Amino acid sequence: MNRVLNGILLLFCFGTLFTKLPTSFARPYIAAVVEYSPTGSVFSQTPAKVLGQNLNNYNQLIVEAASLGVDIIVFPEYGITTLTLSSLSRLAARPFLQQFPSINSSAPQLLCDGNATIPDQDIVFTKLSCYARQNAIYVVINVGEIVVCSAGQNTTENGVCPDDGAFQYSSDVVFDRNGFLLARYRKTHLFLEPLFQVPIATDLTVFSTDFGINFGMMTCFDIMFYEPALTLYYQQGIKDFVFPTAWVDELPFLTAIQMQEGWTRFLGGTLLASNYHLPANAQIGSGIYDAAGAINYTSSPDSGTRLVVAQVGGNEKSTLAKSVNSSTVIYLKHR
Ligand SMILES: *[C@@H]1O[C@H](CO)[C@@H](O)[C@H](O)[C@H]1NC(C)=O
Ligand SMILES: *[C@@H]1O[C@H](CO)[C@@H](O)[C@H](O)[C@H]1NC(C)=O
Ligand SMILES: *[C@@H]1O[C@H](CO)[C@@H](O)[C@H](O)[C@H]1NC(C)=O
Ligand SMILES: *[C@@H]1O[C@H](CO)[C@@H](O)[C@H](O)[C@H]1NC(C)=O
Ligand SMILES: *[C@@H]1O[C@H](CO)[C@@H](O)[C@H](O)[C@H]1NC(C)=O
Repeated sequence: MNRVLNGILLLFCFGTLFTKLPTSFARPYIAAVVEYSPTGSVFSQTPAKVLGQNLNNYNQLIVEAASLGVDIIVFPEYGITTLTLSSLSRLAARPFLQQFPSINSSAPQLLCDGNATIPDQDIVFTKLSCYARQNAIYVVINVGEIVVCSAGQNTTENGVCPDDGAFQYSSDVVFDRNGFLLARYRKTHLFLEPLFQVPIATDLTVFSTDFGINFGMMTCFDIMFYEPALTLYYQQGIKDFVFPTAWVDELPFLTAIQMQEGWTRFLGGTLLASNYHLPANAQIGSGIYDAAGAINYTSSPDSGTRLVVAQVGGNEKSTLAKSVNSSTVIYLKHR
C-alpha cells in the first residue's frame, strides 16, 4: 500500500494546454468494438487449433463490420488465445505466442500473400493482414509476443535476456486498410500475468489513420495508470485511444463500462474499448465513448459475442463536453 501511496502524483492541468496544437483534419468515422467470447482450450488443443478457430471468428466479425461501413475494428485482450493462457507457465505458454515481423511505420510490411500456404507459426499475422486487406478496414488485435534471445545478453531494445531464453510480452498490433502492419504496443501494467514481462521502457505507441485520427494504444490494467495514456495525452495531445481488455468487473466502481466511460469523459477524448466476454468470470462490457459519454456500448451477460458499432465525430455535444475542467487529478504513477 505504501508503495502505491508513495507513487501518487498530484497533477494539475489547465484548459490552455492544447491551444498550440495544430487543428485536426479529422473526419467522422465509424468504429466497431467486439464484445468477444473466445473459443478453444489451451489445455486440450494445439496452438494452431486454438489460434485458427478464433481467427476464423475474427474474420466473420471483420466481414460483418465492413458491411456496416466500419473504418476501424478493435478486438479484446487474449481474444485469439483465450484468457486461460495466462494461467500457464512461461514455457507452457510459449507455443501459443507469436514472433512478430519487424514493425517499421516508415516501411510497413505486407504479410498477406494470397498464393502461399501459410506455416502454422505465421497464421496470426498472415491471416489478419489478409482480413484487413480484403475488407479495407483498420484491425487492432492483442496477442502474446515472443522475442527469442540468448540468456543474459543485454540488448538496447529489450534489456537483459531472461534465463529461459525469451522475452514475452502482451502486445497489441494494428493493420491498416491495405493489410500492412502499422504499429505494435507492449502492455505496460501486467495484472497477474507471470507468462509476460513489461518492456524496459514504456511503449508510447501512436498510429495514424486516413480519417485523420492519431490513436494511442493501451491494454486493460494500463487504464488505471499514468503510463502510457496520460503521457501521450500531456506530451503529444493524443486523446483518442484503442483499448483491448480482458476486464473483470468489480463493484461498486470498477465495472468495465464505468471505467471506460469515466476515463474518457475525464480525458475529453475517445475510447474504443473491446472486452473479453466471460460472464461467469464477471467479464462483460465493451463500448465506444467520446467526451460526452457512451455513444454505443454493451454490458449484458447474455450478449455473447457481438459487434458494437458507432459513428465517432461530427457530434456537437461531444465538442462542447471537451471543455470539461479537470483541474486536479490523482493518478497512480508506479509500475
Ligand atoms: C478549472 O478549475 C480550477 C479550480 O477550480 C480553476 O481555478 C480554473 O480557473 C478552471 N479553469 C477553467 C479553464 O475553467
Ligand atoms: C525503417 O524503414 C526505413 C525505410 O526503409 C529505414 O530507413 C529505417 O532504417 C527503418 N528503421 C528500422 C528501425 O528498421
Ligand atoms: C497470386 O498469383 C497471381 C497469378 O500468378 C498474381 O497475379 C497475384 O498478384 C498473386 N497474389 C499475391 C497476393 O501475390
Ligand atoms: C544493459 O545495457 C544498457 C545500455 O544499453 C545499460 O544501461 C544497462 O545498465 C545494462 N544492464 C545490465 C543489467 O547490464
Ligand atoms: C449500436 O451497435 C449496434 C450493433 O451492435 C447497432 O445495431 C446500433 O445501431 C448501434 N447504435 C448506435 C446508436 O450506433
